[in-house]
Amino acid sequence: MKIKIIQKENKVLRQNAKEIPVEKIKSKEIKKVLKRMSKTLNESENGVALAAPQIGESLRIFIVKTFPLTSGSADHVDENKKSPMVFINPVIIKISSKKNIVDEGCLSVEGVYGTIKRAEKLTIEAYNENGEKKTRGASGLLAQIIQHEIDHLNGVLFIDKAESLEKP
Ligand code: CO
Repeated sequence: MKIKIIQKENKVLRQNAKEIPVEKIKSKEIKKVLKRMSKTLNESENGVALAAPQIGESLRIFIVKTFPLTSGSADHVDENKKSPMVFINPVIIKISSKKNIVDEGCLSVEGVYGTIKRAEKLTIEAYNENGEKKTRGASGLLAQIIQHEIDHLNGVLFIDKAESLEKP
């Protein structure tokens, strides 16, 4: 059965999501949440990333499809390479002052798109699904996605900040 993505009217999207105690990252409970998130993201055609509140879990987790961000074509991706990048308790530790105006949408705001200012580059620190703390740099689309997803964890939707919105 398809898992429903929570839409913008739902209050869970407006909460400040809870941090996960490091010792609980590898727990069954969190594994289950991650599984549901991956399934939901893989089933969505347009989605590139998903935050836990979007499936009703007010936790500081988001995932990003590794494909098509890191590979060119859809044709040769085998199933086990489809596991997403996992960010748990993410913190942006560095962000560029240079911003770009970019197009954006959200699985929780169906049918609405807009333009928004996003920093061009950032550095993020987060735990992965194995409980290891990792730091990585991101620019362009990945940096934009990370900013969008961290907003979700802080109860912010892109429509709050967009410079213009349209329903095509
Ligand atoms: Co979103």
